[in-house]
Amino acid sequence: MVQESGDGEKRSQGLSNSGFEWRSPRLLVCSILLVLLLFYYIDYTQFSEKWATTISLVLTETFTSQTTNTSLALGRLSTPPGPYYVAYPHKYEFVLNEPEKCKQENPFVVLIVPVAPGNAAFRDAIRSTWGTEKLVEDKVVSLLFLLGLPCPKEQENLQESLLQESEKYHDILQSDFLDSYHNLTIKTMVMLEWLTAYCQNASYAMKVDSDVFLNVKRLVNMLLSAPKENYMTGLVTRGGMVMRDPRSKWYLPKQVFAPARYPPYTLGLAYVFSLDLPAKLVEAARHVKAVYIEDVYLGLCMKHLGISVTNPSEGGLFNVYPVQYNRCRYSKLITTTTRSLRGQIRSWKDLQTPGSPC
Ligand SMILES: *[C@@H]1O[C@H](CO)[C@@H](O)[C@H](O)[C@H]1NC(C)=O
Ligand SMILES: *[C@@H]1O[C@H](CO)[C@@H](O)[C@H](O)[C@H]1NC(C)=O
Ligand SMILES: *[C@@H]1O[C@H](CO)[C@@H](O)[C@H](O)[C@H]1NC(C)=O
Repeated sequence: MVQESGDGEKRSQGLSNSGFEWRSPRLLVCSILLVLLLFYYIDYTQFSEKWATTISLVLTETFTSQTTNTSLALGRLSTPPGPYYVAYPHKYEFVLNEPEKCKQENPFVVLIVPVAPGNAAFRDAIRSTWGTEKLVEDKVVSLLFLLGLPCPKEQENLQESLLQESEKYHDILQSDFLDSYHNLTIKTMVMLEWLTAYCQNASYAMKVDSDVFLNVKRLVNMLLSAPKENYMTGLVTRGGMVMRDPRSKWYLPKQVFAPARYPPYTLGLAYVFSLDLPAKLVEAARHVKAVYIEDVYLGLCMKHLGISVTNPSEGGLFNVYPVQYNRCRYSKLITTTTRSLRGQIRSWKDLQTPGSPC
């Protein structure tokens, strides 16, 4: 989640002018009844993301505090998960797995890239750029992509090609939850479970989004002198405001999270952690209800554990807004978002050419 309003946020700001006003009390009462009815009859698990957003639009604070008893609606919200929670903990199984990967490669750092099943172009771009950097300063770097299931409509053809892709590259993990934006927290937790089960011997792992440029050399370089335990770093957000506008992409009502600010957390697009943390976070997740905002959720679990996130060893290493390509600058950063896949490939190639970058 990005505080300073990305595009989605701006787009939704525009909507607020056309939002409805409660002109007559009767309209208000009727609407409340209608919404209650909806909550009663609709099975949340069948909602598409769009639906969930629509419902959250209607479920304003006024609504929840003015009705006589909302426990009916809120009860439905928490089991099944509803718009703000995800189905975790839950026993998810791997459809595609690489159980021997870490045993065989014995990595220093494992890079895990959550990516949508249909996004083969991003996987290929990574395999041909920073994914090729398997050995840096004598340290082994392993790469894995993490997928959920494609939606049923896509499933038939896509699953077959994923199987082939997996046999060809041996770098795909696929778990049996439905891959969607709303389910990203499940993806992250499944990643942590996988690391706990199959990669205990690695020193560090990094979650990095598929559209992010990664400077593997700089990453390894930073990790060589990083703490070995209770270590999580990235773009650290402190005092992040909880979005109370139901139109926000990252809306959470007070009923779900009461404080006005989140505990510190590392932004989801790229964060690194020591390998003692996955098991601890998986354990913490049994006690902290899983909200759908994955990076915030890890922050909540870290708080539960009483472990603080660590600031990067220097400023500018992790960037959420695209940094204009510049050989010298890129040689010093670890991650940045990029404007296009082609730009990302070009930057990486240029950075590999011999000669001092600065
Ligand atoms: C609302 O429902 C909850 C849970 O069923 C109950 O504990 C509470 O007393 C109710 N409140 C009112 C005002 O009826
Ligand atoms: C981890 O390292 C220990 C000691 O070096 C070794 O015995 C064990 O087999 C390794 N486990 C894995 C999963 O690589
Ligand atoms: C999240 O995954 C669960 C498990 O596969 C699925 O039941 C649910 O519909 C998914 N939710 C969304 C919003 O995609």
